[in-house]
Amino acid sequence: MDFDEIVQIQDNRGFDVFSRNRICLTYGEGCKLYDTEGRQYIDFMGGIAVNCLGYGNAKLVEAIESQCRKLMHCSNLFYEEQQARLLKALTEGTGFARAFLCNSGAEANEAAIKLARKYYHDKGQGKYRFITALNSFHGRTLTTATATGQEKYSKPYAPLTPGFIYVPFNDIKALEEALLDDEVCAVMLETIQGESGVIPATKEYLEAARKLTEERGIPLIIDEVQTGVMRCGRLFSFQLYGIMPDIVTLAKGLGGGFPIGAMLAVEKVADAFKKGDHGSTFGGNPLACAAAVAVLSQVNSVAFGDEVRRKGDFFKELLKGLSKYPFAGEPRGEGLLIGLPLSLEVDGKKVAEKMLGEGFIINCAGSNTLRFAPPLIISEGEISAMTAALDRVLSQFSKTE
Ligand SMILES: Cc1ncc(COP(=O)(O)O)c(C=O)c1O
Repeated sequence: MDFDEIVQIQDNRGFDVFSRNRICLTYGEGCKLYDTEGRQYIDFMGGIAVNCLGYGNAKLVEAIESQCRKLMHCSNLFYEEQQARLLKALTEGTGFARAFLCNSGAEANEAAIKLARKYYHDKGQGKYRFITALNSFHGRTLTTATATGQEKYSKPYAPLTPGFIYVPFNDIKALEEALLDDEVCAVMLETIQGESGVIPATKEYLEAARKLTEERGIPLIIDEVQTGVMRCGRLFSFQLYGIMPDIVTLAKGLGGGFPIGAMLAVEKVADAFKKGDHGSTFGGNPLACAAAVAVLSQVNSVAFGDEVRRKGDFFKELLKGLSKYPFAGEPRGEGLLIGLPLSLEVDGKKVAEKMLGEGFIINCAGSNTLRFAPPLIISEGEISAMTAALDRVLSQFSKTE
């Protein structure tokens, strides 16, 4: 198929729900992507925080290749080694007793929500309400869209799943007041609101969320779908905040590009799921598990995490240099999940478009924030080249706007 045919078919035969760039990608290597016209791009989006090892990582490819020759899928009615390996990797030394494997971030959050309700159901208490934050993002299923504290994702699909209360992010008092409700069964938060423009929780906020939920015996769920798997320089970004939640959800980076999600829980809460309480046909699929094991074996070390943080700090330093443009704000984020807010006089989407012309893939999230989530193997040279190109692009805006 040529470029025009591909575009024509996708635009007219797929649901028209995505705003796609008019570029058709064919191949990737390291942090570079190539399109049908042979153009090269350095990827600072990583498939939206997914391709943590870049493209063509030898160990990841080998793990998937060799597993698909052996056993591509088997049902959860049998035991299987790759799943056991992944469960071990996710629970050993993490403080979580059990992991439920699924296929996406939304499914991981659905599992967390069901687990928290089941926990109180088993206690014979009718607690069912969740507190989530305004501007959060937790997925696109009906319940996770409801959990998402942004009406645009849920309003057209009413009636929604009952039982969600929204509080302003980073507002301890509001959380405290919402927790006075006796029917609250869990608090669900991100450490950094990625989709809303890389907005980090303050340390005080997450500490207070942990303390308040602990005092009331209510599970704290941390959604690490975007921030987990070393994106922020730790397996779980909550480790940077010195807290330990009861439930955590992962997806995106976990399979390094292969779809997989996971919901992990501490023993006390995990025990609420008994045989038949939850399930998934593809969850824990051997191919996906082999991919995730290959990812974790390469990224899950202190040295790798420290390197991610070092590169993230280097990146933020270079972005700070762009504050010479009055419309560029202070860079924020942790590790290699970084946002550069722009004031509204410059359209971040246009900046991202122009960056494609310079050979760099970046993205605009939230109200107007440039978001960077490159493969974790990105080099300092590539970071410098991107920030230099961004400087050139922003200078055009400062002349014309
Ligand atoms: C924090 C967070 N939670 C959940 C999701 C949903 O994940 P998925 O698209 O894999 O269902 C996302 C996706 O962007 C996310 O960023």
